[in-house]
Amino acid sequence: MLEVLNKANTFTKENESSVIQDFRNKYHLMAPIGWINDPNGFVFYEGEYHLFYQHYPYDSVWGPMHWGHAKSKDLVSWEHLPIALAPSEDYDKDGCFSGSAIEVDGKLYLYYTGHVVNDGAVRQVQCVAVSEDGIHFEKHPQNPIVDERHIEGIAPIADFRDPKVFKKDDMYYMVVATKTADNRGQILMFNSANLIDWDFFSILLEGDEHQGVMWECPDLFELDGKDVLIMSPIGIQPRGHEFKNVSSTVAFIGQMDWETGKFKVEADHEIDGGLDFYAPQTCEGPKGERMMSAWMQMWGRNMPSNELKHGWAGSMTLPRELHIQSNRLIQKPPHGIYDYIQPTEKVGDLEIKDQQLIKEQVMLDQSYLKLDLDVSATKQIQLELAKSAAGSLKVTYDVASEVLEVSREGLGYEIKGDEPVHLLARSMQVSAIGGRLILEIFRDTSSVEIFINNTLAMTNTFYETEKGSDVVLDVLGSARIHELTRGVFKDKDH
Ligand code: FRU
Repeated sequence: MLEVLNKANTFTKENESSVIQDFRNKYHLMAPIGWINDPNGFVFYEGEYHLFYQHYPYDSVWGPMHWGHAKSKDLVSWEHLPIALAPSEDYDKDGCFSGSAIEVDGKLYLYYTGHVVNDGAVRQVQCVAVSEDGIHFEKHPQNPIVDERHIEGIAPIADFRDPKVFKKDDMYYMVVATKTADNRGQILMFNSANLIDWDFFSILLEGDEHQGVMWECPDLFELDGKDVLIMSPIGIQPRGHEFKNVSSTVAFIGQMDWETGKFKVEADHEIDGGLDFYAPQTCEGPKGERMMSAWMQMWGRNMPSNELKHGWAGSMTLPRELHIQSNRLIQKPPHGIYDYIQPTEKVGDLEIKDQQLIKEQVMLDQSYLKLDLDVSATKQIQLELAKSAAGSLKVTYDVASEVLEVSREGLGYEIKGDEPVHLLARSMQVSAIGGRLILEIFRDTSSVEIFINNTLAMTNTFYETEKGSDVVLDVLGSARIHELTRGVFKDKDH
């Protein structure tokens, strides 16, 4: 593998300075050059978070997958490390697809899918690579460790990918995404006592005909007394405001039966309500906290940074801290991010009635805005973010219907998708809790992540044709601002 890996790392070093920075995020993880998709191998290893990602360094489009690699102490500042995996063997020659990491006795194990296409026939098998130092990985001589032998009559080898490995009691488990013979999503589970020899254990969960034709990137973990299975279905059918993107993300909340290896679903919902969020993966932090990162982009849509030949495409979301509340996965920004925010204005206790509040130069490229509003006497609020003469990102909350919408219509370069109807906005059901709506807005150049009431999130990208930084708050009825805090990002104080 060394030759293919060295070629990729040398290419990156020699060419990364040619990448055009205009739309690049600063406090989100991106590849130095080229294409990025799913987060992989998210793990806390020897005092630091490591995050790998699906990566093609040579172009700003998807290609034979490598694993890019970065590490961070606080999930905000990232240090790039050499590319960790490259397609090099007969079992992974067309790509090292998504997977996970686990630390055992000081060694770091990466589990990934070897993707091969021979005469049009796709073969996807599970493989492992091991490292003593967390940087250099060796593919195991027994690869592939899970393949046709394990799934005969259960799943097609052409759609069998994205292993997530974890330990429970004295056993290692691996969940893998696949589909049934009649094209419904399916997650399989395998187990092993030694990380290398695996047995089929169970069909963990099967979808129905409305829940997509293939499931991708499963992750199974315990949280706040519940078992949680997250995964990314292709083609799940819309349900109310949910699942409007071509590919979606779902959290199943329920209980595991470890005797039978079956997951009993109690509730399910879309994980993020925005246009650009896919393939999330979680990791357990040092204090047992459950952090989640996702790809901040979407399949089936054009990517302006590629079309404009900027030499890159894709970014990770902010990693988020997860909890369960009322059988729902809730998410908060990573706590380390607040060390980077320098507040520049704080307003409190202000009544606005049928009027507009204009704040200039608020949404700078790296900026933060918190709005804590009492909307009990409000009909509607509209926020225009990153406003320039050319457009803005519009956030609208209708109090009666409790619907929050984020729209990028008319803003910047057009982004079109494979959706049946051109999708410019997404909306979410959001209850004002005790009449309160709390929005925390994180802008990083071409992305906005909105955290709502400390529980929900909506993630969107946009590529402006004209830079905008003003914010306009329009209130129909009356609203009380309990708190408006704005801030800019600075280097962290050490
Ligand atoms: C999800 C996915 C995975 C696959 C990877 C390939 O976005 O399709 O199922 O392993 O991307 O890059």
